[in-house]
Amino acid sequence: MTTDTTGTVARDGESRPGGPADSPFIRACRRRPGPHTPVWFMRQAGRSLPEYREIRATVPMLESCRRPDLVTEITLQPVRRHGVDAAILFSDIVVPVAAAGVDLDIVPGTGPVVAEPIRTAADVQRIRLITREDVSYVDEAVRQLVAELGDTPLIGFAGAPFTLASYLVEGGPSRTHAKTKALMYGNPELWHALCGRLAEVTLAFLRVQIDAGVSAVQLFDSWAGALSEADYRRFVLPHSTAVLSGLADAGVPRIHFGVGTAELLGAMGEAGADVVGVDWRTPLDVATGRIGPDKAVQGNLDPTVLLAPWPVVEAEVRRILEQGKAAPGHVFNLGHGVLPETDPEVLTRVVALVHEVSSRRADQG
Ligand code: CP3
Repeated sequence: MTTDTTGTVARDGESRPGGPADSPFIRACRRRPGPHTPVWFMRQAGRSLPEYREIRATVPMLESCRRPDLVTEITLQPVRRHGVDAAILFSDIVVPVAAAGVDLDIVPGTGPVVAEPIRTAADVQRIRLITREDVSYVDEAVRQLVAELGDTPLIGFAGAPFTLASYLVEGGPSRTHAKTKALMYGNPELWHALCGRLAEVTLAFLRVQIDAGVSAVQLFDSWAGALSEADYRRFVLPHSTAVLSGLADAGVPRIHFGVGTAELLGAMGEAGADVVGVDWRTPLDVATGRIGPDKAVQGNLDPTVLLAPWPVVEAEVRRILEQGKAAPGHVFNLGHGVLPETDPEVLTRVVALVHEVSSRRADQG
């Protein structure tokens, strides 16, 4: 009953003019013109904000992801503070994997750490398929957020099979992804079984978020840039395609993001993305040439530039807006997540500058 009612409200919200579906962010994802270039920041809900640190001082990371009241508050913080064009659900890529039965924790300063790394077919079997009940806290948080956010779209997200597999096989963060690649090259059958299962978990997790009312989804394949294009196509693309193409009928834009993916941009678009994320290594006009004219782009500001004096930041923002004109749709963002040491005031200034510069452009026709 509650499910039906909230679902209807969300759908009505999307169809009325001025609702999230008509927002600058969703318009840009769909390659439609809008009043200004939309901007949000990966990892905007997090440690650069004192109000976030205050909440998290007494609550461990995974617990904060499982409490709808905290998820709602933390997700709203950067929207209130910076006036960004989209909210991103406060969660982590390992949340659905933990819900699927994998024993893991998120260790401050390190990241996800897995108690028993995946080594065998039996280990893969133990990763359960998840249902809505397994992640009811996400369902509840998204519904609360959609009601609170009004016309501001909420982005749902998940980790892509390769990046999730890397944490599960390594047992934690890795620079070389050596154990992951050793499994991939040495036991392709087990590799595909693992990624196939992770794709199923990820698809189910994104469907829960979409049913609860998110306006777009982003699939983070943060570490895919560790692979050559040939290996990406053979070992990763089928599984990311299973997730993104599995959502083709869901009616929300799909963003696909990775770091160091200059050689993979075309393939990542082929996986079924409407928007392809671009890090700071590839200018947006060059990226568009690789991705093609039927997809929007997102990203490109080096997160470390935000630590530089304002004139440097301003020049970079203007350059990116200029080069973004080559794309059929541009969502302004960083090339990776906000660094914890970033001054939040700078983020607020970037939002204002992006809006000002891109609106003036529209005025001038
Ligand atoms: O973007 C947002 O604001 C939403 C929140 C979000 C988090 N993690 C919160 C978080 C999102 C979208 C993620 C995704 C995520 N998590 C990715 C993909 C994006 C990326 O950055 O490449 C990855 C690879 C992870 C895994 C992970 N979780 C890492 C590498 C870390 C950082 C470890 C550290 O402490 O330096 C985490 C922990 C994490 N996830 C934090 C936050 C706010 C920090 C936890 C804390 O405050 O102690």
